[in-house]
Amino acid sequence: MDAKRVRKIVERWMLPTEKSSYMGGLENAPIIASATGSTVVDTEGREYLDFQSGQMGAALGHRHPKIMAAIERALATMIHATNTMLNVPRLRLHEKLGKLLPPPLAKSLFLVSGSDSVEAAVDMARKATGGTDVIGLHAGLHGSTSYMTRSLSFNWRRSKHSVVAPGTSAILAPYCYRCPLGLKFPDCRIQCLDASLELADANFTGRPAAFLGEPILSAGGVIVPPDGFYKRVEDACEDRGMLLVIDEAQTGLGKTGKLFGFQHEAGVTPDIIAISKHFGGGLPISAVCATAEVAERAVRNGYFATRSHAGDPILCAAGEASLDVVVEEDMAARAHLIERRIKQRMTELAREIELIGDVRGRGVLLGIELVKDRHKKTPANDEAKRIAAHCLEHGLIFQVRGVRELANVLRLVPPMTTADAEVDRALAILEDALRAVAGGAKRKGRTKADARAAE
Ligand SMILES: Cc1ncc(COP(=O)(O)O)c(C=O)c1O
Repeated sequence: MDAKRVRKIVERWMLPTEKSSYMGGLENAPIIASATGSTVVDTEGREYLDFQSGQMGAALGHRHPKIMAAIERALATMIHATNTMLNVPRLRLHEKLGKLLPPPLAKSLFLVSGSDSVEAAVDMARKATGGTDVIGLHAGLHGSTSYMTRSLSFNWRRSKHSVVAPGTSAILAPYCYRCPLGLKFPDCRIQCLDASLELADANFTGRPAAFLGEPILSAGGVIVPPDGFYKRVEDACEDRGMLLVIDEAQTGLGKTGKLFGFQHEAGVTPDIIAISKHFGGGLPISAVCATAEVAERAVRNGYFATRSHAGDPILCAAGEASLDVVVEEDMAARAHLIERRIKQRMTELAREIELIGDVRGRGVLLGIELVKDRHKKTPANDEAKRIAAHCLEHGLIFQVRGVRELANVLRLVPPMTTADAEVDRALAILEDALRAVAGGAKRKGRTKADARAAE
């Protein structure tokens, strides 16, 4: 399709894309024609390494053969079904997921999008507790349904929403690189949480229902909470009769080097988790999972959630195949190896390139925070944009994210199936871009800030 025709369709038939959103300017980006494994190809035949895994739905690679085979089997039998009757792929998926969930999580309910699963999780927590107020992290993102999940996606400006849901408020995200209290972990004893909870208690309008959080705040700039944060959140929930709801959309099913992101902290036991993104291996299916006790309490109080396509056999078949791939191909171990490879190279580069302020994340959810100078940590938004453009030009795709107004974190989310040679190719492109934008300047001596960034 030539550029003139594209422009005509965009201008005449497409709803305009909001410029400041992360999709802003998509009409100027390459038009994707096909995708296999870690590579996408545009309509001009140019290849790109896809280090954003589609919209994170291709973390098992695009068109994984085992998932394609399951989808083809479903195509030959039944793709859609009523949700007033059970079907075999749906039953098989409940069983397979249930056996994988860390106890006491056991029960699942299927929906379509990540936003659906978070909305269902919040509603379940409210029904189970009889409470209303839900708190989330101020750099969190949980979905784009216009009422509930956008109201809880504090990393997007809530002022952009038409109406904000009542009983939703933010607490401070534990962003240690830019501590909101100016403290340092572990000496800080995670005071951001204590102060936040004191405020939250003052703001609650009734009985609180839940805390909602991501194990790694992905869209908020790949923020990894300090060790012990979630255990403290869990204790705070218990004290207040609230449930701990973990959104595993971006961290679940192997991506962080463990099956679920919350498992990086010993002893944390969420009451409810939400799973989506690569759960369907590229098709849209999500799940809300709970302990039997929470699920039964919520249902006794009238809880239900569904969608016309929730439980469609084709989606459930893809879900079952994706879980098989995660387990049989030990994707968590692969994610961990990719993390080591990328972090090692970025840490080496940080010794030379001042622009690299912080290298963080887990598994295949990694962030490189760019700063104009390491002392003041002035966010390098413009540089991040130029680096992403340079990489795109040279065959590497990723997104730039950050906390609220910041857009200075290069977020790398390669599929877990990415081969070492592909990782190295992506790193070489990124290195060229970093050097080009940073001016290739070699620093003479190492400062303390350099050493910290390189740790
Ligand atoms: C952590 C998290 N939760 C939920 C969602 C919403 O998922 P979906 O876009 O499938 O509704 C997203 C989307 O990126 C996300 O990052």
